[in-house]
Parts: sequence; structure tokens; C-alpha cells
Amino acid sequence: MTGGTLAARPAPSHNETASRYFEHSSAPRVNTDAVIVEALRAEYPELHITVVPQYENDLFGYAAAGHASIAAIDKEKDRLTWKTFLPPASRLGGQRGALVDFVKLGKYLLDWQGKEYVVCIADGRDGTMAYPQQTNQYILSGSIEASNKLLFESGAWNSELHSEIWVFDSGYWQKSAELWESVQKSNWDDVILETSMKRAIIADVENFFDSQETYERLKVAWKRGIIYYGPPGNGKTISIKAMMNALYKRDKPVPTLYVKTLASFAGPEYSINQIFSLARRTAPCYLVFEDLDSIVDDRVRSYFLNAVDGIQKNDGILMVGSTNHLDRLDPGIAKRPSRFDRKYLFPNPNTEEREKYMKYWQHKLSDNHDLDFPDKICPAVAKITAGFSFAYLQEAVVASLLAIARDKDGFSESVCLECMETHAKPTSGRTCDSETKRPYKGLYDWVWAVRQADEEDPDLENYILWREIKKQVRILKE
Ligand SMILES: Nc1ncnc2c1ncn2[C@@H]1O[C@H](COP(=O)(O)OP(=O)(O)OP(=O)(O)O)[C@@H](O)[C@H]1O
Ligand SMILES: [Mg+2]
Repeated sequence: MTGGTLAARPAPSHNETASRYFEHSSAPRVNTDAVIVEALRAEYPELHITVVPQYENDLFGYAAAGHASIAAIDKEKDRLTWKTFLPPASRLGGQRGALVDFVKLGKYLLDWQGKEYVVCIADGRDGTMAYPQQTNQYILSGSIEASNKLLFESGAWNSELHSEIWVFDSGYWQKSAELWESVQKSNWDDVILETSMKRAIIADVENFFDSQETYERLKVAWKRGIIYYGPPGNGKTISIKAMMNALYKRDKPVPTLYVKTLASFAGPEYSINQIFSLARRTAPCYLVFEDLDSIVDDRVRSYFLNAVDGIQKNDGILMVGSTNHLDRLDPGIAKRPSRFDRKYLFPNPNTEEREKYMKYWQHKLSDNHDLDFPDKICPAVAKITAGFSFAYLQEAVVASLLAIARDKDGFSESVCLECMETHAKPTSGRTCDSETKRPYKGLYDWVWAVRQADEEDPDLENYILWREIKKQVRILKE
């Protein structure tokens, strides 16, 4: 900056920016489409114009997937873009994010199957702030048939999924590649449940999709609803994901529609309409409502029930809802047959299941040579973790692995199994060194910390547990 030149500049008598801004803000009706279409007609009187919302039929995505080529044809001074910093999806691997241009107004030449199209893209709105901002594409071509042909093909491509799953959020169905990837890793082998319950859960869903003819023969509507309920962290979500994966692997894959929330710019009733209209179009499909009690509240209950079994057909739709609070669900949803009439409780694991879960980890870590995971750890941990959810157990294992890594990296504070106190690990000597590879030290620390943090646990119980844990760890040592 050259010392205050700008500050010394006299203020202009007329502030063009402010007057243009206020003029723009006081318009009786804002309608970007009307403005752009009028301008394009004047600019290209010989061409036909078609307006297409980008969220419905994204020509840029279609071109990026290799179906057409597209290049900017306007000058930089005629474009309006936002420069945004996009943080990295993860800071791991040293990624630092990127600067990205969001085009608010731009003009392109699209080449598709030997034909050229001018495509103008503009961010705008119609009406008041109550309506969301919308990005539209204005397609210009020599004939309306040529535009229709392009839009039909790109529309068909856009309406399909490409390693993605439909997720309903903020009032829209959006494609999620992230959920798709996480579902690919979900597997029934990783879900520990009481054997007959696991079998029933899987059979319920698989049989439903195998039984269209049976339902038809019995003249009953081919639709079902299932509820998974119980305390947090016991496998409702991983079961849904394992089911999704299994359904995608069927000879005729069954897609999932995943609902996160009904909240939207146009109210929950609008969301319910959007959700069920895609579900009916996609059927047979698996329609998931995670945290059903928070999705369907008093306000939308009757509207939701009407969508579930009103006059419109929901054939081929299998709904699954998860909840921690079955009691908070309206009886109209939870108790009426043909709505969500199957229910499965996912309780905290019993001793046998906790032991199984530890064995699962033992197997999972079997190729880690930094670790010594003897069989006796499994029943011992199962014994001292009554009341833990699977998710808590998982935390215990992870915490113990971190403790081992810390020891390996030269940190010296840990619980000595000889004297049961925390002290510096001797650099040479018997017990502490030889125990550094054993995960139960960390497990023990963690279990004890959780017990202490549990406010409802009276001191006496804590004391008894403390002794129990000590005893168990001693047994392990022997
Ligand atoms: N039955 C189980 N078998 C194996 N691992 C489990 C099981 N239940 C939970 N876990 C572990 O705990 C984590 C959390 O489980 P999940 O998300 O399925 O819980 P949830 O029942 O959906 O809980 P919430 O009610 O809070 O949504 C899982 O990623 C998994 O590692
Ligand atoms: Mg869950």
C-alpha cells in the first residue's frame, strides 16, 4: 500500500455501488430466470432456450463423467464466481484442502454426439428468501429436438446411481458416495448378535424381497415395517449397513433409500412427499429411517401415517426404523399391524456375547506381532464388563491398543501388574517389560476409568469392582 492514498481520496458525491445495490434489493419481485431468458433471447435470437435446474439434471456432472465435453466461452470479466476454500476431507496424509471456484454466472460450449450447445449457468432465485437459492442451466441449441435428446440422456444418467446411495437430508434426495463406500465394508460377519435373532433379522428382509408373488397370491399389500430398538451402541446401525450391503449383492440388487431428517425449507410434510415418491418409484427398495422417534414427531405423525398406508400404493417398500426410545414412538406407528409390526431389541451384550466380541478382536489383531493377545483375556474382560455396550467394549480395546503403542514409543507411565499401581516402567527387569505387549493393562485402565465415571455407581460397588478387576488381572498373570 502506498501510504494512505486511498484514505486521502475524496468520497465521490454519488455512491453508484450503494444505489445499484438498493435498487436491486427493492425490486418488487426477484426472478432470475425471467432476466436471463430475456437476455439470452436477445443475444441468440436464432436459438431455442430450455431451462433446467442443475440439481435435477446436472450437465456438468454428465460431461465430467466423460459423456460430453464442455469448455468456457465467456471472458473472465463476464463471469461471476465465488472463490471458496475447501478444507480437506481428512488432515491425514498431509492434505491441505484447495481453493475452488463456484460459478455463479458463466457461459459454456457443450459438445455432445457431434452437436454443439451453448450452456449458460446462473445462480438465482424466484420469489422471496423463503425459497432456496437455485442454480439453473439455460441450454441453447438450433432445434428443440436436439435439446430434448441431450436432456433425456443426461437426465437418465443423472437419475441413476453411480456407486452412490440416495440420502434424504435438508429437504432433498442427495447422492452419497461416502455412505456407499462405508456400506461396502459392512458385513454380517462383523455383527455379533444372539444367533437366532441374527438369523431372523436377515431372513425377515431377504424373505420379504423374495416373496412378491406370495403376497400377491394372498392378496395382501407387499410392504412391511421393522423397528430396531435398544440402548446406544449395540449394533442397530451396523446391522442396517450389513443388510444394505447384502441387498446390493443379490442377483437383482435392492437399493436403499436412507432418511436422515425431515427438516427442510418447505416443512416436514413436503419432505414426506419427496421421500415416499422416490421410494415408490424405486421399489422394490429398503427405506431406512435412522432415529425414527426424532424423525416422526407429533406434528407430522398423521401425515407420515397417511403416507405409510394411505390410498397410494407402497408395494415393494420395506421400511426399517431404528430408535433408542421405543416408548417415545407413537403407538400408531409402533403397534399397528402392517406399519412397523416387527420389532427387535438390541440389548447390551451378555457375558457370552462380550466374550465373543473379544474373540472377534483377538482374531482381527492376530497378524499384529506387537501384540500378545492370549485366549484367557477374552473371558476375563467379559467378566468385568457387565453392563457395557458393544461400543463401550470397542472403546476399551482401542484404548488398550493406544496404551500399548504409547509404551512402545517410549512413554513410561503404566499400571504395573506386579503391584497394581501406576509407576515408571523399569527399563530392565521382570514383570513390567514382559507385560508391555499385553492388551489387558490398557483394558484394565479403561474399565476402571469407566466404572469411576459412572455417577450412579456407589462407592461400595466401585470398591467391589476394583477388587474384582484386580483379581481378574491377577488371574491373567498366572
Ligand atoms: N452387535 C455388535 N457386534 C459387533 N460390534 C458392535 C455391535 N454393536 C455395536 N458394535 C460396535 O459399536 C459401534 C457402534 O454400533 P452401532 O452404530 O451399530 O450402534 P447403534 O445401536 O446404532 O447405536 P445408536 O443407538 O447410538 O445409534 C459399531 O461401529 C461397532 O464397532
Ligand atoms: Mg445407530
